[in-house]
Amino acid sequence: MSMQGSVLAVGKCLACLEFMLLPVWQGIRASSGIGDGWSQGLGRCLRWEPSSPGQGPRMPVFDYPVWLVLCRRGRARLREVCQRGRGVIRLPADILRFKLPQLYDNHQIPKVFREDSIISGYRHPKSSALDCVLSSFHMNNETMNIWTHFLPTWYFLWRFCVLCSTLNFLTDSYTWPLLVYMVLICIYPFTSSCAHTFSTMSPESRHICYFFDYGALSLYSLGCAISYGHYVIPDCWVNSFVHQHFVPIAVGNALFCTSLSCYSRFLELQFPKRSKVMRTVAFIVPFIFDTAPLFYRIVLCCGGNCGSSSALSSHCYHLLFAFLTCFLFTAHLPERLAPGRFDYIGHSHQLFHVSAVVGTHFQMEGVIADMMSRRAWLVGHGATPSFLSTIGVLVVSFALNLGVIGIFSAPLLWKPDQSHAAARERKEQ
Ligand SMILES: *[C@@H]1O[C@H](CO)[C@@H](O)[C@H](O)[C@H]1NC(C)=O
Ligand SMILES: [Zn+2]
Repeated sequence: MSMQGSVLAVGKCLACLEFMLLPVWQGIRASSGIGDGWSQGLGRCLRWEPSSPGQGPRMPVFDYPVWLVLCRRGRARLREVCQRGRGVIRLPADILRFKLPQLYDNHQIPKVFREDSIISGYRHPKSSALDCVLSSFHMNNETMNIWTHFLPTWYFLWRFCVLCSTLNFLTDSYTWPLLVYMVLICIYPFTSSCAHTFSTMSPESRHICYFFDYGALSLYSLGCAISYGHYVIPDCWVNSFVHQHFVPIAVGNALFCTSLSCYSRFLELQFPKRSKVMRTVAFIVPFIFDTAPLFYRIVLCCGGNCGSSSALSSHCYHLLFAFLTCFLFTAHLPERLAPGRFDYIGHSHQLFHVSAVVGTHFQMEGVIADMMSRRAWLVGHGATPSFLSTIGVLVVSFALNLGVIGIFSAPLLWKPDQSHAAARERKEQ
C-alpha cells in the first residue's frame, strides 16, 4: 500500500469514529462550554457534511508528503488535508446507504421548535419520515422521550394480554370499565412516542403530532374516570347523583381538555406563559374531577373507615407520582438550573414521561385490586356497568376528540396564502 493510500485509510477510520461519536460528543461540548482550538479544529476538519450543500463529494487529492504533515507546520497542513478530504469523510455514510441526520443547536432552528433550556441536540426542522424513525436510534434531544414511552407501551400491552387471558372481557360486563382503561393506557404512551418521533417533519406536523398527544392524554383521563366511576367510587357515593353523572361529565372534561390544550399551542410563540398555564389547567381539571372519589376515600380512610386497604396504598403511590408529574411538567427542572447539561438525558420532559408511566402503573394496580375485591359488593348494590357507559362512551369520545383535533389541524393543513405564512415565520425567527 502506498503512503497516500495509508493516509487515506487513517482518514477514513477517523471519519468513521467521528461519525459515530460526534453526536454525543457535540452534546458534551455544548453543555460544558469547551470551545478550545483543539475541538474546534477537529470539529471543522472532520465533518461528514460538505460545506456547501450543492457541492457534493469531491475526490480527495493528498499531494503532501506525510513527513510534511507531521513535522513542519503540521497543524496547518493537516487542516488543509482535512479540507480536501471532505469527500472521503462522506464515504462511511454512503457505505451505510443512509446519512445519519445532523443535529443542530437551538439558535439554528426556527423558534417554534425551541425548548427552554435545551441548547443542543435538535433534529432538522424538516426531517423526512425515515430520518425521524432513524433518529430514535441516534442520540438526540428526543431519543429518550421516544423510548421512555415506547417501552412502557409494551409493558402495558403485556399486562393487558395477561388480563385478557384471566378475565372474560367479551361477555362479563363488570370488566368493561377495566377493558376501556387498559386500551387507553396502551394508547397514550404509544401516541406520545409517535408524536415525539415525527414532530420534526415540519412546524405543522409538530403541532398536529402534539394535538394527537393531547387527545390521547385526555382520553386517558376519560379512561380513569370510567374505571374510577365504576370500581373506585366510595361506598356512600354509589347510585348518587355524582355517580350517575360521573362519566358524562368526564366526557365533557375530555373535550374541554383536548380543545384547550390544542388551542394553547397557537399562543405558544406570542404568550408562552399564558399558553403553559392554559395547558396545565387543561390537564389538571380532569385530573381533579377524576380523582375526587379517590380523595374522598382517602379522607374517609384517614377517619378510620378504610375498605380495601391494599388498593388504597397503590392509589396513594399513584397520587404521589401524579403530583411529581405535574411538578416536572410545570417546573422545567432540572434543565432550568443548568441549561445545556440535560439536552440528551435527564431533562424534565423525560422525567415527566417516566413519572407519568410509573404513576399509571400504580394506578392500574389500584384499579385492578379494587375491581377484584369489590365485585360482590358493587354488583350487589346494582352498580353494574352498561355497554353504553363504557365501550359506547369510549367510541363516541374517540370520534369527538378526533373531530376536535381535525378542527385545530385544518387551518394548519390548508393555508390559503403560503407566502404570507412564510413571511410571518421569517419574521418570528
Ligand atoms: C428536541 O428538538 C426538537 C427539534 O428537533 C424540538 O422540537 C423539541 O422540542 C426538542 N425537545 C426537547 C425535549 O428538547
Ligand atoms: Zn412527551
